[in-house]
Amino acid sequence: MADHAFIHRAPAEARAVELPLLSGEFPAGLRGTLLRNGPGIQQAGSTPVHFLDGYAMVAGARFEDGRVIYNARHVDLPLARAEQAAGRLVGRRPFTNRPGGALANLGRMSLRTGAAHEVYVWGGSVVASDVDGHYLLDPITLDTRGPAPINAIGGGLSQLCAMPRFDPHSGHLVAYVMTPGMLGSDTVTVVEYDGGWVERARVKRSLGVKGAVLHDLCATANHYLLVQFGLLDVPRAALGGCVVLDAVGLPPGAARILAVPRRGDGPIRELPLPDGHQSFHIANAWEADGQLVVDTTIYDGMLDFDPLNPPGLGRGGPKPGASREPGGPFLCRHTLDLVSGAHQAVVHREAGGEAPSVREDLGGRRHRYAWVSAQGTPGDEPVRNAYYWYHGLAKLDCDAGRTASLWDAGPRVHVTAPQFAPRGTAEDDGWVLAWTHDAASGRGELVVLDAAEPARGPVARFGLPAPLPPASHVTWMPA
Ligand SMILES: [Fe+2]
Repeated sequence: MADHAFIHRAPAEARAVELPLLSGEFPAGLRGTLLRNGPGIQQAGSTPVHFLDGYAMVAGARFEDGRVIYNARHVDLPLARAEQAAGRLVGRRPFTNRPGGALANLGRMSLRTGAAHEVYVWGGSVVASDVDGHYLLDPITLDTRGPAPINAIGGGLSQLCAMPRFDPHSGHLVAYVMTPGMLGSDTVTVVEYDGGWVERARVKRSLGVKGAVLHDLCATANHYLLVQFGLLDVPRAALGGCVVLDAVGLPPGAARILAVPRRGDGPIRELPLPDGHQSFHIANAWEADGQLVVDTTIYDGMLDFDPLNPPGLGRGGPKPGASREPGGPFLCRHTLDLVSGAHQAVVHREAGGEAPSVREDLGGRRHRYAWVSAQGTPGDEPVRNAYYWYHGLAKLDCDAGRTASLWDAGPRVHVTAPQFAPRGTAEDDGWVLAWTHDAASGRGELVVLDAAEPARGPVARFGLPAPLPPASHVTWMPA
């Protein structure tokens, strides 16, 4: 079996398993839980689905009193129950069509939350975004408690934000819902929740286009930043002849960062990406001296998700109009002069990586470093730009626009996106943690590295009872 095929294996659940220390020492002072969300079961009844359309599996490793306790649970999703009972895929997914050709998918549009994606902590629960909404989980056992209140802000054809973010400025959770315009433009509604899931702010704006597809967000003192990664050809997607994500294109101006004013009724400011480039994630953003600065990750070309299909599914060739393997991802720093409106986007090709993590207490504030999933030495994967099968992690110096320190685990070890966990007050004083998979042994591990110098390799490695497929995103829940 090819090494990269491990991503399609359904992971095993686990309850309160103490992980053995394989090498190094327990990181003194590290207390909290590393969480992972990503695809779990990639089969709806007898229908195989694209990697990113699998039902969510959340895993957590809790560091406490010199030991690590591991739990892994499939999210108890009503849609999964219905589809397993039906024995087939019932709902069309963003990356997978229902069997039966175009007719079986005609008029069915689903971009609800995209895919099994983010995990975050809010209101006393761990929250997982899944294929049809967000679900609350017990923070210790990871058992599903039920749907999250955030699901109420959108319905029907709306896109619910897959990646809500904590905003240290307000102390609120920030999320959005994008509602397609039937006659006019699409609209976005940004909502803030307090710790009890009570809505505390709401801003609604027209996006001036139809077919906007959004992903990550961030909040600065005065703006919400939203990433638009392309434009959906709605009629083409609705006809059902291709999967929905294949109907996303990158005409000039389609990929941009939207800066939505948090207060008042000022217009949305646009930070366009260089033509032909695509972006999904924001490392961080801040405002200082009349400037808005946004650090994103960016591809030189349009990302093709087809290689993440299991064998026998998908179109098997390049997406029309897209490179099979665009350049990147790289760091891109946007600077917008809030007075003159002058905008600059600088792509830093010496700073490669995706799925960035920064210190949470610097969210929306000036930062220098980001920790990213880095390609490392390629293995046998068919394309190199999907971070799900990357082989390393890196510390980026975003001010210098370069990789400051890279841990390359080698071509047969897959490394998830890293997560920063703080120790002291200096920006890079802490650990970065990630989940790994060793194709040679078939073993899954949890690794801890020094955030200041990941290149030194793991300071501790813990063995998992069973391998985990790659994560969509990871997060840190302090004790
Ligand atoms: Fe994401």
